[in-house]
Amino acid sequence: MKSSAPVIGKRMETKQKKYNSLRGASTLLAHTPIKDLFGRTFNYLRIALNEQCNLRCMYCMPEEGIDFRSEDKLLSNQEILRLIELTAQMGVSKIRFTGGEPLLRKDLSELIQFANNYKHIDSVHLTTNGLLLEKRIDELIKSGLLGVNISLDTLNSEKFKKITRRDGLDMVLSGLKKAMGSSIQSIKLNVVAMRDFNDNEFIDFIGLTKENDITVRFIELMPFDSHQIWKTGKFYGADHIIADIKNQVDELNPIDGSRTEHHIFRVNDYKGKVAVIPAYSRSLCGECNRLRITADGKLLNCLYSQNETNLRDAMRDGKNNTEIEDMIRNTMKKKYIDGWEAQNQGNDNRESMTQIGG
Ligand code: GTP
Ligand code: 5AD
Ligand code: SF4
Repeated sequence: MKSSAPVIGKRMETKQKKYNSLRGASTLLAHTPIKDLFGRTFNYLRIALNEQCNLRCMYCMPEEGIDFRSEDKLLSNQEILRLIELTAQMGVSKIRFTGGEPLLRKDLSELIQFANNYKHIDSVHLTTNGLLLEKRIDELIKSGLLGVNISLDTLNSEKFKKITRRDGLDMVLSGLKKAMGSSIQSIKLNVVAMRDFNDNEFIDFIGLTKENDITVRFIELMPFDSHQIWKTGKFYGADHIIADIKNQVDELNPIDGSRTEHHIFRVNDYKGKVAVIPAYSRSLCGECNRLRITADGKLLNCLYSQNETNLRDAMRDGKNNTEIEDMIRNTMKKKYIDGWEAQNQGNDNRESMTQIGG
């Protein structure tokens, strides 16, 4: 559902009209949902807005020497808007901007505003590390942002420094606090569960849901960094996480959540929710409803996919909307039954999660 939808700004209105008229009226098949051969429908688009990040989380990227793509290789504002418009006409109703760190992108509010005002889009969300959230949340809400997912793996500042290789816990907590005091509808904390790192903090994180209507989500660690800290025994599976939680709380009442929130509960009579995301175990694939576009404009039909469809080059080569629509539909049609099959199609040579967009 749309929140108190902000009225489109004059500047944006002009821009949007200009943008539409640049490409002429759409000749899309339109309104036929994007489907695969297993009956899944894709109505949720995740777009990475950059690869750069102001943290260096150990499970995500190396400390230095990362080969970030140059700006001209990344999607421009206009290209992003075009893909939002195009996919929205094909049934996408939810957009999530990811990164890298999307708050480093100066035109973020403009993109949110465009997506939010586009007729078929119901909700626009952001996944961020939260460092710059306090500064920018008012502007984001004004643009129509409905939800924010904040990555935070520990509540201890020394451990924060260790896992992110930077200072900043206070800034993230200030951002979270400001978000909780704001009108934003959905706030989620993404906690990547790691053995002997934060497995003793689950209960503290859950405690945050007692008085706050937020969702704390424990996520299985995935093997997406070139240094593979994943192989160092840090993996903590969904079953273990759930068993740990059950041991520490009185009541765990199942409720409904999003498609990644494969296990979701309310603890006792707390205001918020607690979820576990089996991102590695992949028991959630049957429910998959997402398209992913990387910062350099490649469409992935699965987080674990080894194949990319280059929408950026297609747009730059002058392909029209119908041709791009075909590329999108065909890519999604070729989606494998689950992330295991997708992973089996080749060797992953990505250096970081930021090259996928989360
Ligand atoms: P909601 O829309 O609020 O459900 O958010 P989300 O869980 O889709 O997005 P978010 O960016 O907050 O991601 C949380 C975690 O789930 C990250 O570790 C993602 O990599 C992981 N994740 C997101 N989508 C998928 C998916 O399709 N498959 C798998 N295996 N993991 C996913
Ligand atoms: N395993 C699990 N989650 C990860 N994220 C980034 N890298 C990994 C990984 N290797 C999470 C971030 C963020 C979301 C987009 O993905 O913490 O919350
Ligand atoms: Fe969808 Fe692939 Fe994630 Fe499974 S692993 S939920 S198929 S993106």
